[in-house]
Amino acid sequence: MIIWLAGLSGSGKTTIGRALYERLKGRHTNLVFLDGDEFRQVMGHDLGYSYEDRQTNARRFSHLCAFLDRQGIHMICAVLSNYPEWLRWNRETFDQYFEIFVDVSLETLLARDVKNIYKPALAGEKKDVVGVDIPFVPPGNADFTIDNNQALEDITQLVDRIIKALPRFT
Ligand SMILES: Nc1ncnc2c1ncn2[C@@H]1O[C@H](COP(=O)(O)OP(=O)(O)O)[C@@H](O)[C@H]1O
Ligand SMILES: [Mg+2]
Repeated sequence: MIIWLAGLSGSGKTTIGRALYERLKGRHTNLVFLDGDEFRQVMGHDLGYSYEDRQTNARRFSHLCAFLDRQGIHMICAVLSNYPEWLRWNRETFDQYFEIFVDVSLETLLARDVKNIYKPALAGEKKDVVGVDIPFVPPGNADFTIDNNQALEDITQLVDRIIKALPRFT
């Protein structure tokens, strides 16, 4: 099973993915959490954030997941996912696949801007920001959508909702 969290930078993918991982790892010892930022680091930070580099990164990410999936490893992936062709590929390739869209408006992201990317991008001081100068293509076929515009008061409840929606896997 590959559980895939997609959404803009700062939408909450890592936070939600990690909480889900913490909850499921006791039940599934063959479960790996793979985060987009950590993946880039593991690969040696050889790619930047241009449209082309992000596409190369998406290809690598999905291929690594397929490689592990074939060996019976379950994964929770938290990665921006701006390429519909790779989300399609995931669905066609992985044995079991559950895609979650963490949906947050640009207005909310701009108000939070924890990583300080959206304000500089909108001011034209920073480029290659998805949602600003790189258009965001939201997942069109997600299995589950989380509206994360409100404050995350109870992540336990949110994780409960995800687990309820997940197909059974062993
Ligand atoms: N619903 C929320 N309300 C307020 N802050 C949030 C919410 N969800 C996530 N955050 C915060 O936003 C920041 C970015 O979250 P993160 O999980 O790193 O996003 P992503 O992995 O999608 O870039 C973190 O500091 C996180 O604590
Ligand atoms: Mg993250």
